[in-house]
Amino acid sequence: MSRTYSVEEVSKHTAPTDLLLIIDGKVYDVSDFKEEHPGGEDFLLDQAGKDVTELFEDAGHSPEAREILSTLTVGTIPSDAPSRPIPVHAQEELPDAYLRVCLLLAVVCMVAGLVYLRF
Ligand code: HEM
Repeated sequence: MSRTYSVEEVSKHTAPTDLLLIIDGKVYDVSDFKEEHPGGEDFLLDQAGKDVTELFEDAGHSPEAREILSTLTVGTIPSDAPSRPIPVHAQEELPDAYLRVCLLLAVVCMVAGLVYLRF
């Protein structure tokens, strides 16, 4: 049965007999498939409970692999939930905005200092 999972909920399913993975917003139960995985079960055990979208794509899986994948679906992650790491550009925006606020504060302090000295 397919249902909605949160990323946090999936992260708790890490046991070899209860092993969930996230790929592209969908949740897969690989408990029974792991022994059959041509890439080895260790790959799947190491990634238990995680979003493996990039690893899955990077391994260059065939259309057959994607077909197997579709038989293992147990649910989905709501599209507004962050199931992947924050994109690099978003991580860069944070210190940048922080720096600008600091710079603005420094300029305001300098102007206030100058005004104070003059009058
Ligand atoms: C439920 C998810 C997965 C399914 C259904 C799956 C299925 C398959 C299949 C059928 C193959 C044989 C080659 C092909 O047809 O593409 C394969 C190979 C492979 N898989 Fe996966 N895979 C899954 C997840 C992963 C993950 C998460 C990783 C990496 C962490 C991974 C790493 C590999 C590697 C490295 C190979 C190549 C093995 C070799 O060529 O010797 N797989 N997988």
